[in-house]
Amino acid sequence: MKKNIQTRRYFNGLAEEWEAKKIADDEKIENLLIKIDWDNCKIILDIGCGTGVLFPYLEQITHGQAKILAMDFAESMVQEAAQKKYSSIKILCGCARYLPFLDNSVDLIIAFHVFPHIKGKKLAMKECWRVLKPNGELAILHIHSSQEINAIHREIGGAVKNHKLPSAKQMCQMLDSVGFKIKQAVDRGGEYFLNGRKIMK
Ligand SMILES: C[S@@+](CC[C@H](N)C(=O)[O-])C[C@H]1O[C@@H](n2cnc3c(N)ncnc32)[C@H](O)[C@@H]1O
Repeated sequence: MKKNIQTRRYFNGLAEEWEAKKIADDEKIENLLIKIDWDNCKIILDIGCGTGVLFPYLEQITHGQAKILAMDFAESMVQEAAQKKYSSIKILCGCARYLPFLDNSVDLIIAFHVFPHIKGKKLAMKECWRVLKPNGELAILHIHSSQEINAIHREIGGAVKNHKLPSAKQMCQMLDSVGFKIKQAVDRGGEYFLNGRKIMK
């Protein structure tokens, strides 16, 4: 079976119980989000949004004043997210490798706990670069280091067994080759935070 279909099926199957798992607590999420420069972020895109775990934080940080777009390729995740009913958040079903957004249209893209699962990471990065406005930022966040995540996925097994998060160094090389200027790169126990700014070629 194609890997993407397997991954979608896997997350569709988890949608109803996803939030009960409480993978990340408030403190861990806030410690990551605080590193983002929110100034002038009027249009924000949450890729691989799942059930919308980040929505309340995004609403709070932006005081409901930003337009928030969210997308995920697992339709059951999207359905759960849609039930949250935030008027400032528009949720779409789609793949991170083919973002259904215009060029130069978004100020900030957040990828929280999603990159290990994306097959074709560089293609997704190129898409992020395309839809970001000049100087817009992509932030890749995890509450674990790459080594920790990869061990967790090996232990879970099944569809995510080989879903790897490259080290910050490897991800930075990819981001750089796509045209991002790296601002911060942290990959240590309990934290993975990368952000890059779109530089025009
Ligand atoms: C580990 S979950 C994280 C969900 C959410 N960001 C959170 O932290 O609760 C990964 C999510 O990424 C989505 N995903 C994986 N690959 C994707 C892709 N290529 N395009 C869009 N979404 C994808 C999955 O469907 C799943 O909802």
